[in-house]
Amino acid sequence: MSENPLQQIEHVTVIGAGAMGSQIAMVCALAGYDTDVVDIAQEAVDRAAEQLHSRMDRDVSKGRRTREDVDAAFERMTFSTDRDECAAQADFVIEAAVEDLTIKRQVFAELDAVCPEHTILATNSSNIVSSRVADATNRPEKVCNVHFFNPALVMKCVEVVPNPATSPETVETAMALARSIGKEPVQLKKEVPGFVANRLLGALRTEALKLYEDGVADYEDIDVAAKTALNHPMGPFELMDMVGIDVVYLIRLAEYEQTGDPASLPAESIREKYEAGEYGRKSGRGWYDYE
Ligand code: 3HC
Repeated sequence: MSENPLQQIEHVTVIGAGAMGSQIAMVCALAGYDTDVVDIAQEAVDRAAEQLHSRMDRDVSKGRRTREDVDAAFERMTFSTDRDECAAQADFVIEAAVEDLTIKRQVFAELDAVCPEHTILATNSSNIVSSRVADATNRPEKVCNVHFFNPALVMKCVEVVPNPATSPETVETAMALARSIGKEPVQLKKEVPGFVANRLLGALRTEALKLYEDGVADYEDIDVAAKTALNHPMGPFELMDMVGIDVVYLIRLAEYEQTGDPASLPAESIREKYEAGEYGRKSGRGWYDYE
């Protein structure tokens, strides 16, 4: 293995300018990497830039970061809709687009065609394991999951998950990259949908939804119990609103596609909220009202 696995990593391209993608990119830029945030929609890219600027302004005003560090990070960032132009310069790609296997496979095949030979292609997905996209490329040994947590600017954990074809060098580089951006990476030994943290969270969420749907307690009270009895920073319903009820729904659907087990399907109340467009904080309403 190489002495310094990060030797070749200077340029990171993040695909997807949603809450996750944009914050992952910001973390990389703050750590000194030239970083792109790419999305198909100009509107998404503009919104990401605006939200990151206001988040960083707040951090500066609260003395958490210096103006110099923040300005230097934005200097290193490119907000773009030209994915191929960015990816052609990338040493490491982190895909944080929609949780849809067909789209991801297409994105990986196209990235494989334009990225330099040495570029590692990682997906931030926690439910679509990288072996399901690796065979859309000619470099399965350079494909893995690198899974961040929401909000990515704050949460320390990053799960690095190899597929059976991922090389030890790729794992080593992904672990080193995560450390270099101030995260505490956790290395999985094999693929499993949801990985470690979301499996733990999923068990809690499933039980919370069951208690609510069985009429045992209101969702607000279940949240109170999680916070005051277990010292969780947020209750499971508040957390769903932050992560996005659409994300929760699509994760369960993707899990069902893989397991075929009806127990994997989204809970009834989640399906209703998803169909009503009540996605949580991002849509102004989910379990709670944010208007
Ligand atoms: N983006 C960036 N930074 C944020 C943020 C956000 N959405 N929300 C909060 N912060 C930061 C800010 O710096 C904020 O300070 P500020 O309001 O003065 O700017 C600081 O955190 C403190 O925030 P709050 O006072 O609002 O509240 P908390 O002290 O409770 O902290 C929290 C917020 C860090 C989000 C905390 O509640 C927490 O840790 N919650 C649990 C998060 C969690 O479980 N995440 C994992 C989700 S699962 C996942 O991501 C997997 C994926 O596959 C779906």
